[in-house]
Amino acid sequence: MTMAAKQEKLTALFAAAGVIPVLTIERLEDAVPLAKALVGGGVRTLEVTLRTKVAVEAAKAIIAEVPEAIVGIGTILSPGDLARAAALGAKFGISPGLTPELLQAAGASELPFAPGIATASELMQALAHGFEVVKFFPAEQAGGIKALRALAGPFSNARFCPTGGIGEANVGTWLAEPNVIAAGGSWLCPASEVRSGNWARITAICEQTMRSLKAA
Ligand code: 3PG
Repeated sequence: MTMAAKQEKLTALFAAAGVIPVLTIERLEDAVPLAKALVGGGVRTLEVTLRTKVAVEAAKAIIAEVPEAIVGIGTILSPGDLARAAALGAKFGISPGLTPELLQAAGASELPFAPGIATASELMQALAHGFEVVKFFPAEQAGGIKALRALAGPFSNARFCPTGGIGEANVGTWLAEPNVIAAGGSWLCPASEVRSGNWARITAICEQTMRSLKAA
């Protein structure tokens, strides 16, 4: 796949998703019920982060048992992580940042990939490697919507998926920005609800977010 085709695919995926929950799965047995709870609430595109020992197995279980879910892998920090994500059948990859090695590996990989940026220089590196769709992380902490608008000036072709500090209260404001194609975060699957297996609550949170976005 060409770089342009991968970028187009990622843009379509993110735009269709709107919101992307960032999943940190501690126990393998939570993976499938958690994914079902999210999908049940109308949230189908999921970022399973490589932050726990069971992350790869958890992503595989979701792909095998929750076919409605569109599974991407997050917290990709190295070319090895990227290769693992591609091998397990992820639909996309996301990183909180970028390194020259990672950008090079992602350019050569078939996996649609969004590097993470928080500054103009990082965005320039991503763009120089052909990555126009980037994660803006940590979005609120790195200056919020004001920072994003400032970046939009010199980099009008960049498209963003902000994450970090986003929740029900501010996700609509982020998505109203013309260069924001999706917004992600952990508010859709709070760790406390996952820990207690409160799947109905997670579905309700997703439904609430989707309702308020539709109304906006
Ligand atoms: C991420 O990796 O995108 C963040 O950890 C999500 O941040 P949040 O927990 O503030 O939503």
